[in-house]
Amino acid sequence: MPIFIKDGIDNPEEIKTMPEVYRYPVNDKLINYIEESLKNGINKFILFGVPKIKDDLATSAMDSDGIIQKTLKLIKNTFGGKVLLITDECTDEYTSHGHCGIVTINGSSYKVDNDESIKLHAKIALSQAKAGADVIAPSSMMDGVVGEIRKTLDENGFQDVPIMAYSSKYASTFYGPFREAAYSKPAFGDRRGYQMDPRNLEEGVREVYLDIQEGADIVMVKPAHTYLDVIRRVKQSFPCYPLAAYHVSGEYSMLKAAAINGWIDEKRAVLEVTNAIFRAGADIVITYFAEDIAKWLKQQS
Ligand code: PBG
Repeated sequence: MPIFIKDGIDNPEEIKTMPEVYRYPVNDKLINYIEESLKNGINKFILFGVPKIKDDLATSAMDSDGIIQKTLKLIKNTFGGKVLLITDECTDEYTSHGHCGIVTINGSSYKVDNDESIKLHAKIALSQAKAGADVIAPSSMMDGVVGEIRKTLDENGFQDVPIMAYSSKYASTFYGPFREAAYSKPAFGDRRGYQMDPRNLEEGVREVYLDIQEGADIVMVKPAHTYLDVIRRVKQSFPCYPLAAYHVSGEYSMLKAAAINGWIDEKRAVLEVTNAIFRAGADIVITYFAEDIAKWLKQQS
């Protein structure tokens, strides 16, 4: 289950574009929420930070006292090995321009510098591992980022920290509600230079192949509901690699909106969609409905 954690707040805030999903403060409210989730059978979380300070180089993303680092320490000190913490590793929430790397501006055009960016991503990953992350999940889609992170983790004694790579991540409009949740909308341009063209299936498969070669332990297809064919194709191409699929914010919010309006039966619709994602070939599903699903399945048994 994804969790948003925001620096500088005392109480959970509901996210306007994602009804019933909250940004949590780093305090006992977060601890209570995790305790509740554990009772419901959810013990794996992917963390997204909303920092106080943004700059051009995402400095707050690798601060040992940054939002994610503080959160990791708090949760690990409280729950130890009872929870598995995955950290989304990216810069878009931490940069003033909102891009997933280092931007160079030349007159009216800009460029995301891939090779400089992957060094930065490796530093962020290392600081997350030092703070207690169990799994690092690079989501920037920079070429070579998985290999660079693997090398850096290994050199610093974190050989045992696995990488869940956002391998096949499409430039999707369905990330819209998330960008409101995490204040990470690009200030200019878009992500089509590094995320993939939604029309291109083969490139999605190729990106998975590259990440596996660079040392990814788990690969991912994202979005999920609208990319079932990619999930199926990746699973068939790489059957022996664990495959995660991310049921993203826009896919969540569409179902939620219909449910709130009484247009669909929420429980049946969510279970049907989630089953479809597993049926297509996912081994792991990341979903904002995780806790609801866990509760429903418990009621049924
Ligand atoms: C990047 C990141 C994004 C999401 C997960 N990691 C946003 C983006 O690529 O713009 C989107 C997840 C969602 O929509 O639920 N840090």
